[in-house]
Amino acid sequence: MTSERPVLFSGVRPTGRAHLGNLVGAFENWVSLQDRYECFFCVVDWHALTTGYEDTVELRPRVRDLFIDLLSVGLDPERSTIFVQSQNKDHAELALLLGMVTPLGWLERCPTYKEQLRELEGREITNFGFLGYPVLQAADILAYGGEWVPVGEDQLPHLELCREIVRRFNYIYGTALPEPKPLMSRVPMLPGTDGRKMSKSYGNDIAISAEPEEIRAKVMGMITDPARIRKDDPGHPEVCNVYSLHRAFSAHLHEAIGGECREGRRGCVACKRELSEAIVSYLGPVRARRNELLGDPGTVDRLVAGGGARARAASARILAEVRRAMNVWT
Ligand code: TRP
Ligand code: SF4
Repeated sequence: MTSERPVLFSGVRPTGRAHLGNLVGAFENWVSLQDRYECFFCVVDWHALTTGYEDTVELRPRVRDLFIDLLSVGLDPERSTIFVQSQNKDHAELALLLGMVTPLGWLERCPTYKEQLRELEGREITNFGFLGYPVLQAADILAYGGEWVPVGEDQLPHLELCREIVRRFNYIYGTALPEPKPLMSRVPMLPGTDGRKMSKSYGNDIAISAEPEEIRAKVMGMITDPARIRKDDPGHPEVCNVYSLHRAFSAHLHEAIGGECREGRRGCVACKRELSEAIVSYLGPVRARRNELLGDPGTVDRLVAGGGARARAASARILAEVRRAMNVWT
């Protein structure tokens, strides 16, 4: 499966239902990259274990659900390799080998590590696996010779660490593994229902798989411009989070909505109702595709198995090269 297109890798952790922030901020971008790159999209279940190792009963169903989400939003298993990390043990072997050249200090200094230690205080995560998170992430990318990694700002430290590991590895063993580069997208971050960045941990998210009723309930519960008491009070759309979401889901009406709000010609209840309907219809095709897949588990099983096989075949070359360079057995 040689290809002239540059290799691109990205991963997503199965830590709960994927949401609109994932869709607008990442998955839609992934869908459009499929033509120009040789793409690998990976559901990284081992990464989910780095913090969620105690209770794993939900892990398999979450992985499957996320896989279905990825297919539903338009990732194409013909053009791209869509798979589950633990299906390809090469990631684990490569992480082990990369770990040999990764100084502890690099990992301990990683800003995401320090931040997570603070945020998840009280949970026992001072573990080897958690400290090694970026090494495993580097292995994910390098196993396929990934050159481009579409990521958000929050992942830049991991990518920088990956590049440092590659340089050190190449220097020691005389290999020529490529240094992966970030592919930043221009989409502004999507706010959640409370105005902060949409995130499962804030509880302000709307799942891609949410039913219309759930979407309506979440949107109708949003806080609008607090200065508006009556519906003919002039509003300030720039401080209203409903307005920010209209930007993403009612793009063509956005200006008009802002104007009507400012002139006091738009009621907040109606405005929210319009937003919820815009989101429901935006997700319409995704929901249809999702329901189709849910009704056909055999096809999902086949696609998961096919993705894993394709991933294993694709990483074989680099793994052989790395083993040879380090003088261990193939
Ligand atoms: N750490 C990434 C995140 O939390 C997920 C991830 C794992 C990843 N391996 C990757 C992203 C490789 C890009 C490339 O979002
Ligand atoms: Fe926000 Fe719409 Fe109300 Fe204006 S009319 S404050 S944009 S919800």
